[in-house]
Amino acid sequence: MNKKIEKICCIGAGYVGGPTMSVIAQQCPDIQITVVDMNESRIAAWNNSNVDLLPIFEPGLADIVAEARGRNLFFSTDIEKAIDEADMIFISVNTPTKNYGKGKGKAADLKYIELCARQIAEIATSDKIVVEKSTLPVRTAAALKNILDNTGNGVNFHILSNPEFLAEGTAVQDLLHPDRVLIGGEDANAITALAAIYENWVSKDRIITTNLWSSELSKLTANAFLAQRVSSINSISELCEKTGANVDEVARAIGMDSRIGSKFLKASVGFGGSCFQKDILNLVYIARSYNLHEVADYWEQVILMNDHQKHRFADHIIQTLYNTVSGKKIACYGWAFKKDTNDTRESAAIYVADYLLNEEAELVIYDPKVPVEKIYADLDYLHTRTPEENRRLVTVVTDPMEAVKHAHAIAILTEWDEFKTYDWTLIKELMKKPAFVFDGRKLLNRRVLEGIGFKYYAIGE
Ligand code: NAD
Ligand code: UGA
Repeated sequence: MNKKIEKICCIGAGYVGGPTMSVIAQQCPDIQITVVDMNESRIAAWNNSNVDLLPIFEPGLADIVAEARGRNLFFSTDIEKAIDEADMIFISVNTPTKNYGKGKGKAADLKYIELCARQIAEIATSDKIVVEKSTLPVRTAAALKNILDNTGNGVNFHILSNPEFLAEGTAVQDLLHPDRVLIGGEDANAITALAAIYENWVSKDRIITTNLWSSELSKLTANAFLAQRVSSINSISELCEKTGANVDEVARAIGMDSRIGSKFLKASVGFGGSCFQKDILNLVYIARSYNLHEVADYWEQVILMNDHQKHRFADHIIQTLYNTVSGKKIACYGWAFKKDTNDTRESAAIYVADYLLNEEAELVIYDPKVPVEKIYADLDYLHTRTPEENRRLVTVVTDPMEAVKHAHAIAILTEWDEFKTYDWTLIKELMKKPAFVFDGRKLLNRRVLEGIGFKYYAIGE
């Protein structure tokens, strides 16, 4: 195959498929892109005439969708038609941690990926380039190829790995200005065809090519290294609290060493998000499957440290509030796993809240972007207590001042910028005294808060 790509189909209209295809459509007006999903309500939301109601909130995304949608960007549930017409098919479906059977709680669940492969094989009547956009275990391309070649209609399939490195909250900027675009594959023409798409807005020296397995493994490795940095600085944050060192000062001092670098050294209540934990668990699982137990243990520690950080933050709240939070009102500021996203998957807030609820705290939760139902759904999903109990102990409010009325303490769990702009003098007046703030994101200024009269605790100080 050596032709210019005219039609793209992307299976999966989620946090990756939606923004990635919107940016490609904006940058390549000559290519027709159809993003398909089996989730009808998600597609309906992508087609909402009010772009402020798209299913995913990302700064800058609504404008891009408004520009390209209906021109060369389409969202549809007609998966078969889109597959049939496309020259290139991106697979961008979810690859969650398995919650059943062999590898439960560790391996990646590839059932959605396999379903896509079977559907492509069944429908395709012309040659296709199939692009792995989802994050996959190393060597998944071999399984995909096997399914495609053995169940297909005799057409040629070329598989490429093109992992996505965008972070939520900055997805549009990451897509417009990527550090690198990685393409793994065997067929030179297919690689050239995909690279040509990115070359519309990414300089050639940032588009790197590797073999399939290096590309698949690089994605897992990148996430593992990023998460490891957060766990590393979080481990030091605990030592700082014991020794009088300040973790921000330590991070700054080590980050100025150009070999270490300054990014991803912000101590926090723990990393969340749909991918870090999932991808490390997967890496650990793969290492164990090759009997590489030392390798597996090494990476597993990143997750154990993260769990420890979330628990010790909640523990510290309990200890400080005179060893009991039963019946006490604690306001949680933030529920998303980081600022500027409405995504709550694996958010540290969920686990801190669950821990406090086990001690019968009464929580009042405020997040600027996460809907009420989502917060209850996250807590119910843990099955720690009944939905009725969750609703008895947890109130979700849409006014941040409402949240703190008569509260014994505030826990800052997401680093939303707006929290910094609040009238903290008024907040203290509304709270019970002594008024405690537990800053899990090191967001506020200790001097200012203590000046107002708060008892202020921040991670790593
Ligand atoms: P998501 O859950 O938001 O979206 C996946 C979508 O795929 C869902 O809407 C689902 O309905 C759809 N889907 C699943 N199977 C389907 C099928 N057979 N046919 C049609 N639609 C189907 O997931 P996401 O966050 O976009 O992640 C997708 C992949 O990208 C994962 O492998 C993830 O690890 C990886 N990734 C995610 C991010 C991120 O920031 N979220 C960043 C980089 C990579
Ligand atoms: C991460 C990676 O950054 C992306 O490159 C990758 O594509 C993506 O995972 C993925 O594969 O899904 P994301 O999870 O969206 O992106 O967001 P990050 O900015 O990486 O933050 C992850 C978590 O780490 C958040 O909870 C954040 O608050 C926390 N974090 C991050 C810290 O606690 N400290 C830091 O210094 C950085």
